[in-house]
Amino acid sequence: MRCEVCTDLSPDLDCDLLAIGVLEGDSLPDPLLALFGPHLEPSYAAESFTGRAETTFEVHTLGRIPARRLVLVGLGKGSDDEVRGAAGRVGLTARKAGAARVGLDLGAAGNAPESVAAAVEGFACGNYRFDGYKDTAKRKRACDLLVIEGESDVAERALVVAEAQAWVRDLVNEPADVLHPESLAERAAALAGPHLSVDVWDEVRLAAEGMAGTLAVGRASAHPPRLIHLHYAPESPRRRVALVGKGLTFDAGGLCLKTAEGMDTMRCDMAGAATVLGALKAASTLNLPVEIHGIVGAAENMPGAEAYKPGDILRMRNGRTVEVHNTDAEGRLVLADCLCFASTLGVESCLDLATLTGACVVALGFRYTGLFTEDDDLAAEIESAAAVAGDGLWRLPLAEHFRKLLDAEWADLSHTGPRWGGASSAAAFLSAFVDGMRWAHLDIAGPAFLEKADRYYVKGATGAPMRTLLRWIEASG
Ligand code: BES
Ligand code: MN
Ligand code: ZN
Repeated sequence: MRCEVCTDLSPDLDCDLLAIGVLEGDSLPDPLLALFGPHLEPSYAAESFTGRAETTFEVHTLGRIPARRLVLVGLGKGSDDEVRGAAGRVGLTARKAGAARVGLDLGAAGNAPESVAAAVEGFACGNYRFDGYKDTAKRKRACDLLVIEGESDVAERALVVAEAQAWVRDLVNEPADVLHPESLAERAAALAGPHLSVDVWDEVRLAAEGMAGTLAVGRASAHPPRLIHLHYAPESPRRRVALVGKGLTFDAGGLCLKTAEGMDTMRCDMAGAATVLGALKAASTLNLPVEIHGIVGAAENMPGAEAYKPGDILRMRNGRTVEVHNTDAEGRLVLADCLCFASTLGVESCLDLATLTGACVVALGFRYTGLFTEDDDLAAEIESAAAVAGDGLWRLPLAEHFRKLLDAEWADLSHTGPRWGGASSAAAFLSAFVDGMRWAHLDIAGPAFLEKADRYYVKGATGAPMRTLLRWIEASG
């Protein structure tokens, strides 16, 4: 999609769909009233369209403007998040209509740089579909030109972010037969550029590096595990960070096999990895002045003759021994290796992203990422980045109490705790593998992949919270 910015978007714009934002309780902009006034006001009053957020009203154009469709979209009070939601609705409507050229006029609510960014990002999210495997006759055309009021550099940045987010969603939606650890590594390798290097460790290197968790989890799969290390190194970076992603290209549960229903969407279990890759793709395109290590642990968790077993004891990279219980708690073993590795890179801060626990979905549902850290400053940074990015995020406890729940009989620690508080004990497990850096864990099991459409996201992968990562990286200085 291209984006064209202008200072004053006229109703005469030549496009397939023209969308006009209306603040709650406001009347329509004058040029529109002049064109449609007598006919329009009673009809939308009858439909009780008042500009409330998350509502739209389609107007028959009667051939009075070049656009074939005219849609009024409610902006509520005009907050950035309401703007993002309204633009998202327009994106959804445009895709349903197959509109190739779209004009989006947000009036006064859309003037600030943050709201232009929110509008472009929201529109692109709404316009996204994963339909490459459908009959071409059944596919709806994506928008290829969005015309909007605002500043071009803001729109340019937002487009890069939007494109990266769509790239993440494609990766997560891709079937696990296509996207396994090796092909995930290939997709990552394709991101390499002038300041971005990509290094892939195969199973031989993984063994040499002591990555016991990743090897155990990936052992029963026909597709061997990989560690993917991206390094974005701009000139004179302001600081150095690491992003770690869980890359389970499929999670069958291992010997502790999931139910058919439980594994139906488990191709989404590499969403943390995809989100990290997408953030690096965008950060390097935007030349952000922060050095970033991206570390992805990629494996497929399968049952089989070679599978790791309950009762196994793993000696991890940092020397700690771990007692395996439920082989479906595989993500934390892979992440433990990645966090050990990240701890050797001399970064100041490290965030990990993982579709880690069903318990987090029980606690927070599908709109909120669970945030776990004992560092209040880091928590505040991430919370404010999420607020700007429009990603739901909520802090949950991580304290000594949860580490005690992992006491083991025969090894240094158990890899699972009791069922209750499962999202926090998973985070506590990870904390045992972090050394010498600020660290936060983001459990994205809910928001990464939706069971049903929500806001500007259709069912399936969302790419959330990639925008939060970028805002956090950009805010650092
Ligand atoms: N990948 C799952 C978590 C998950 C659940 C992601 C639902 C997305 C949606 C993870 O590997 C898992 O199976 N976790 C177990 C841990 C348990 C065995 C301690 C869980 O949450 O049930
Ligand atoms: Mn699992
Ligand atoms: Zn998993």
